[in-house]
Amino acid sequence: MTSPDRSAAGTERAERPAELRFEGRLIVLAVTGSIAAYKAVELARALTLSGADVQVLMTHTATSFVGPLTFETLTRRRVMRDPLELLPDSRIGHIVAADTADAILVAPATARWLAAMAHGLADDVITATCLASAAPVVVAPAMDGEMHAHPATVANLAALRAFGYTIVGPDTGALASGATGEGRLAEPSRILGALAGALADRPVRVPGASARPPLDPTIRPTDLAGYRVLVTAGGTAEPIDAVRFIGNRSTGKMGVAVAEAAIARGAEVTLVAGMTSVPLPQGVTLVRAETADRMRAAVLQALPAADVLVMAAAVADFRPAEIHDRKLARDGGLTLELEPTPDILADAARAVRRRWQQGTADDAADPASNGEPVRVRDAGAAPPPVLVGFAAETGSLQRAGDKLARKGVDLLVANDVSEPGSGFGTETNRVTVLAPEAAPEPWPLLPKHEVAHRLLDRVGALLAQRSARWVTGESRGEGVDSRPLGPAEADGNFRAFVGTESRTERRR
Ligand code: PMT
Repeated sequence: MTSPDRSAAGTERAERPAELRFEGRLIVLAVTGSIAAYKAVELARALTLSGADVQVLMTHTATSFVGPLTFETLTRRRVMRDPLELLPDSRIGHIVAADTADAILVAPATARWLAAMAHGLADDVITATCLASAAPVVVAPAMDGEMHAHPATVANLAALRAFGYTIVGPDTGALASGATGEGRLAEPSRILGALAGALADRPVRVPGASARPPLDPTIRPTDLAGYRVLVTAGGTAEPIDAVRFIGNRSTGKMGVAVAEAAIARGAEVTLVAGMTSVPLPQGVTLVRAETADRMRAAVLQALPAADVLVMAAAVADFRPAEIHDRKLARDGGLTLELEPTPDILADAARAVRRRWQQGTADDAADPASNGEPVRVRDAGAAPPPVLVGFAAETGSLQRAGDKLARKGVDLLVANDVSEPGSGFGTETNRVTVLAPEAAPEPWPLLPKHEVAHRLLDRVGALLAQRSARWVTGESRGEGVDSRPLGPAEADGNFRAFVGTESRTERRR
């Protein structure tokens, strides 16, 4: 057992903005039995999204407010509830957490827990862990205002400060009792700021994953449950005559990996598949669309119901201007005139902008609109979908930045398809992820399913941000295209793009 580190500075002075990342750190999130325990779910999610390993500890009362399964799904670690619990390898759970944590965050902390901690009563897993740990401890109290003001609580908080613990909050506002007072759990952003401040520039304490409490491989993250993800995979085949076509070397592996990862994370998946040479997953709605035109129709038909579009398909940029019904004879040679195919992704982005910028004819017919076009938000619809494109480049990814802007997507995943181990037909891929107003993020060479999961981590974060802004009613006009509509866009609305010749089947 290690001796406690008393160097962590006092109360809230060390708070920093919550954008600070916690990459590579192990944060022990300790939840006690308060109605505010549900807000700890948001903390767990924010910490994992910012790159932390998270181990949740709960008192028995806390489990009456939030089920451990919620935290286990988010963190992929079993929640520790008892000081006597052993890990699968027989190590004592709370001692492993205490010895490997970069910080312990107790949020929410009840009056009872503050009293137990102030007196070193190690009768629950959280006090036991704090007593055994040299890591900085951040405490976010939440309770009734009178309880917070009671001299016993005041003295207990003073004792924790004297231990070097950082105390953040509570805030003043409406409390569970219906009264207003000082006792509300501080806002998550403030708590994470205090946590970042407490960690300051300390190096990661125990970087090795094997020393930390283990991930449980049987727990799958289901962060996309309830979301509908539309994925394209494979290449398109643009016919020349009855038997020949212009195609490319896409096998569908990358798109299928994205579809499989999305299914594993609980999403409802529609897979629009061009020409593929890999087995397609069960449990998706499969739409076969082997030309750019058919793929466009299939994507635009499914898009209004989708929360996410990932275009991993290699769509031909050109097609023969004329298609011959019969097989062409080889005598006399052949000269092909090519014409550009529609840009499906750019059309999808434009359709999204149109729909979310000005609403649809149906929305305008809503009596509440007084005949004015209404925003879809006013009609109670979901936030706009997250749009993700891939970019196949050769030799340099320089052109990918232009594609990001031209296609109007939220994320562009650029891969150098001339690099060994990357691009067409490979099991692995080295990608650089581009997002508007952010520095390009190069990822190492990874198996395609790992690229898919990391990509969905990013998508999950965008979905969470988007729905938070949606619920709080922040302007959805932000970031929309305010260009006047072109003729093709002006005479048909989003729902007019519904005709498709694609075959649709449900795979179960
Ligand atoms: O299938 P695999 O064998 O696993 O190979 C994976 C892959 C190399 C095909 C994949 O990783 C990839 O890079 N996919 C995108 C290929 C591509 O068409 O890139 P692009 O730079 O030409 O197009 C950019 C984006 O616009 C893509 O999302 C593409 O789907 C989309 N696009 C392109 C042309 C077009 N007419 N309409 C489109 O929507």
